[in-house]
Order: sequence, then structure tokens, then C-alpha cells
Amino acid sequence: MSSKDVEKTIEALLQERRTFAPPNSFSEQANIPDASVYEEATRDPDTWWESQAERLDWFEKWDTVREGEFPKHRWFIDGKLNASHNCLDRHLSSSGDRVAYHWIGEPGEKRSITYSELHEEVCRFADALKSLGVRKGDVVSIYLPMIVELPVAMLACARLGAAHSVVFGGFAAEALRDRINDAGCKVLITADGGYRRGQIVPLKESADTAVKGCPTIEKVVVVRRTGENVNWVEGRDVDYRSLVQDGSVDCEAEPMDSEDMLFVLYTSGTTGKPKGIVHITGGYLTGVSSTHRNIFDIKPDTDVYWCAADIGWVTGHSYIVYGPLANGCTSILYEGAPDWPDKDRWWSIIEEYGVTILYTAPTAIRTFMKWGTEHPGKHDLSSLRLLGSVGEPINPEAWVWYQEFIGGGKTPVVDTWWQTETGAIAISALPGVTTLKPGSATKPYPGVFADVFNDAGEPVGRGGGGYLVLTRPLPSMFRTILGDEQRYLDTYFAKYGEKVYFPGDGAKLDEDGYFWLLGRVDDVMNVAGHRISTYEVESALVDHPAVAEAAVVGRKHPQEGETIVAFVTPRAGYDGTEELLSELRDHVAKVIGKIARPRSIVFTDDLPKTRSGKIMRRLLRDVAEGRELGDVTTLQNAPILDEIREKSATLTDPE
Ligand code: PRX
Repeated sequence: MSSKDVEKTIEALLQERRTFAPPNSFSEQANIPDASVYEEATRDPDTWWESQAERLDWFEKWDTVREGEFPKHRWFIDGKLNASHNCLDRHLSSSGDRVAYHWIGEPGEKRSITYSELHEEVCRFADALKSLGVRKGDVVSIYLPMIVELPVAMLACARLGAAHSVVFGGFAAEALRDRINDAGCKVLITADGGYRRGQIVPLKESADTAVKGCPTIEKVVVVRRTGENVNWVEGRDVDYRSLVQDGSVDCEAEPMDSEDMLFVLYTSGTTGKPKGIVHITGGYLTGVSSTHRNIFDIKPDTDVYWCAADIGWVTGHSYIVYGPLANGCTSILYEGAPDWPDKDRWWSIIEEYGVTILYTAPTAIRTFMKWGTEHPGKHDLSSLRLLGSVGEPINPEAWVWYQEFIGGGKTPVVDTWWQTETGAIAISALPGVTTLKPGSATKPYPGVFADVFNDAGEPVGRGGGGYLVLTRPLPSMFRTILGDEQRYLDTYFAKYGEKVYFPGDGAKLDEDGYFWLLGRVDDVMNVAGHRISTYEVESALVDHPAVAEAAVVGRKHPQEGETIVAFVTPRAGYDGTEELLSELRDHVAKVIGKIARPRSIVFTDDLPKTRSGKIMRRLLRDVAEGRELGDVTTLQNAPILDEIREKSATLTDPE
């Protein structure tokens, strides 16, 4: 984002003066009813985090709350616990009959699974995984649709002390292959397929293709979801259901050190292959259970909570699986698309199950706005008492629409800022305490120390804009990048010295000290709430024989946040034809997944470059968005920009 853009965005946001104090009726019943918690946590953050860790069940208590600062911080030293035990076993005596998930399949099936039933299935599957050779310290790859077996597989791994690496079901075979190889997984858990918009997503087919390039894989566990005929490799492929039937219910949860790895989750960086973000057990579980309880004001006896993300992303890990289950709460798990079979699918689910809390992304909200209020209008949504947003900045109009048309004009809306790396929400309102400003994520969560710095590393102070930083470690933060400690240090702790974490987001502090997040300041795009790096898409494009060079930028889009525009120079002998265009789009979908497919491709003889040959993506972003060009003094081949501009004049965003 250019600085001009930042200014413009700031101006627009600050003109938005509407504020919403928490309704008394909400504050009176809130888990956190007043602001004293902020003072407490600011005065003594470690003691505050300790109080949050105490809400969990530990086999052995820690000796020391924290050791070290960024980048090497450790929490709850020598404490022992197990995430699966905390999510399941400890609820059994008090609430074993409570529903953990109401699962709804896209074609319409329903299954409600209680904590006791979930516990039994997890134990049996964990025991069966042992028979496949899975041991403490292994990494197991999981590539499943949104079915109950997905949290079961995650919790079964956690029970044994094996880390899971969940790969979003929308990723293609090559992306899966790279992630399996990076972590050296021996076992892959997948399904025959899943449902999306009435179509079958052939997961087993992709898994088979991926595994051809994965020398470490010994076993592939297959869940039967669609019942389609799939290729079966004798000796390698194993049926999930028969494993579970044969597994024993007596499968004790392995005591894990607080700092032992719980999972790895891959996310896009600006350069190189995706980063394996490593989360550990004690601090992560403390962070997600605390934020889930307090930000969503969870009342496990009465709430029906729905985080409508996919478990393949961090939002699903933290706020569909570990946070809600650690808090013993009842969640919705919906497999499919919001417009299948009709555009009111979500609203009919909310009405049917009496959902009280909904957590989704601005891209979804803006799409619902576009579809019109008649769809939610057909349903009784009065059970909703709280709404949440995550994934990208929410524009005030969408915020207000969400509150008005989904929340009946009465619910607080918590805009939650965080990342795969932070593991848990870091900036958000507390709904019973904070006066809300549409478009602002408001204040750091108790125990989180955030600030906004300028280029020189000085706090900009109220009224200033710059870069978001975290100045003190929090327990839920990731600990490293799998197998690449140097990249961990270089990416996050180089900009302002190693004591300050740099998340890569622009931000502004207003006169009341509220945080306004302004989007990424690096080459990471945010497409429909998903993080995709320009580098990944460019690599996929140049991997095609017809492509000599490619540059990729994000272009603002009213619903999706950004869409992907690629500028491609074909190799000699290839022309930029319509056929090549669709071939390249398909190629990227094949290599990475449909989410990374460029919306538009502009063919050009050359790309704008500096004298040292670096592609000037910033100018391409100006072109893609039809803006005046920024500083061109370092541009070496100026005439090419006129050509690119002419060709880009017709860029539109198709419906
Ligand atoms: O740019 C920020 C944006 O999403 C990035 C993190 O992406 P990911 O790791 O995929 O995690 C997404 C879900 C937590 C951040 O660096 N982002 C996330 N939430 C917000 C946001 N930007 C503005 N406001 C938010 N509430």
C-alpha cells in the first residue's frame, strides 16, 4: 500500500465518528464486566497470563511463568499438560452430554456429537494411529473437508503428542506435497472427497498425486465422506472407520511439556516457500481459551457458537477447535458454501440451531451485503447476541450493516486482529467493556502490548500512523518457523531489533488510543480473507513453459478485499492469447489451489524494473488500481509502463 493510500484510508476512517457503548444489559452479564482487568494485566502481565493458564488442567504445574523476551520466550516452564485432555476429558464428568459440535453437511445431513462421543472417537483413533506407527514428536499431515473427523484427527494427534499439520482442503496437490515434505510426515489423513457448492472436491485424487512426490509417507488414512469410488493403494491406504472400530477407548493423553509443539500450520511469506508456523501446547492453549472466553463472552451452558471459518486456516484451529473445546462450549460445524443451495443457508442454520454468537470475515459480510437483506430477512436471527469479524480490515459500512441486519441493531461487533503467528486474538474489544468504533479493532487484549512505530522505530503516539508492533511476548505466539530459525529471526525481528515483533501490518492510533489496522505493508495479499504471497503466485506462473517473467499484485475489490492481477511476459514463440490466459489461470489453480488463481492477467513485453533489475510491483499496483503513478525516479524502462497502462485500462472485476 502506498503512503498516499494509507493517508486516504486514514482520512476515510477518521471521518467515521459513530461510536457504540456496550449496552448495560450486555455488560451486566459479561464475563468481563468492567475495565479493571486492563489495569491488572498492564501492571503485572505475567500474573494475568498465569491466571488464564490456571483455567486449564495441568498434569504438573509450572515453576516459572515466563523466561526470556522476544524472540526467545518460553511460558509456564516445566508445566505438563495435554491439549486433547483439556478439550475433552476434563469436561466429561460435568458436561459429557453437552453437544460439542452440531455438524451440518452441505447436502443437508446433520450430526450432533457430544463431548463424551467426541472423546471416545478421539481415543479410539489416537490408539489406532499408534498402531500405524505414530509417536510423540511426529508430524501428521491432515487434508480433510469440514467434517467432524477433522477435529477428531487433530485431537487424536494431540493426545499422542504428535503435531498435526492441517492443509486447507482447497489447496492443490503440489501445495499439499510441499507441506508434507517440509515436515517429513509419515502419515496423511484425508477423505475420498468433500462437498462444495454441490460439487465433489476430489481430495483423495489430489492426495494420491501429492503422495507420489512424498517419500516419507507410509500410510494414508481415508475417511469415507462422499462414498465415491476412489483409487486404493493396498498396504498404504487404510480405512478410517475400521481403524476407529479397532482402536481402544483406553488411550491415555500423553503429558506434554508446556513448550512442546502442538501443531505446525503453513502460511505465506513474502519470499520463498510457505512458512511452517510452529505453535506449542501450554501458551497456545492459554491464549486461545482466554481470548475465546472473554472476547466472545462464552457461556458454555447456553451459547451456541459459530465460527464460520475453515479449520484449514488458523481461525479454525484456534476458534473452532482448541478455544471452544477448551471452554466446553457448543459449536456449529458447517461443511459447505454460504450460498448452497440458497443464499440464506447461514441464516437458516442460525435460526434452526439458535446460534448466539457468529464469527466471520469481512469478505463474507460484504458478499452478504451484495446479495441483499432479503436473505437474512427471511429468518429469525434474534438468538444472536454477539458478532465477530476477522481476517482483514472491516470497513465501517460493512460493520454497521453486519450489526444492523444480522445483529438486529443490538449486538456488539468485535473486530479481532491477529495472525497465524500470534495464534490467538491480540487486538479486540471486550464486548462488555469497550466502546466500539466501526472499522477499528479497538484495543490490545489484556496482557498484550502493541504499539505503532514509525520507520525509525519510534512510537508515533496518538493521532499517528505507521507500523503495528508487539513489544512484549504473549504466551500464544508461535515459537519458530519449522526447520528455519534464521527465517524466523529475519522475517519478524529484524526491522526494529530483536525485542520487537513486526507483524507486517500498517496501523494508525487515533486520539483515544484505538488501533485502526490498515492492511499489509509487504508483498502479502489478502484475497477473500486468505493470505497469499505475490511470490507464490509468481513462482507458479514462471513454472509454466510459456512464461518468461511474471509480477503479481493485489487489486482492491469491493467484496473480496483484494483480487490477484498478474503481469506476464510470455517466452519467445508464445503469444498472449485468450487460450494462454485461461491456461495460466488453471495452471496456478493446479499448483496452489483455486484461491490463488489470478482474476486478471495482462500480457506485456517487459515489466517495470529498477536499474538493478528489481521488479517495481508498487508501480504495477498503481496501474492495476488505475491510480496516478507513484515515484518513478528509479525506473529504468519507463516506456513499458505506458504500454502496460494501456493494456490494463480495461481491467474490471467480473461479478
Ligand atoms: O493483515 C492482517 C490481516 O490478516 C493477516 C493475518 O493473516 P492470517 O495469518 O492468515 O490470519 C488470518 C486470521 C487471523 C494480518 O497480518 N488481519 C487479520 N485480522 C484482521 C486483519 N486486518 C485488519 N483487521 C483485522 N481484524
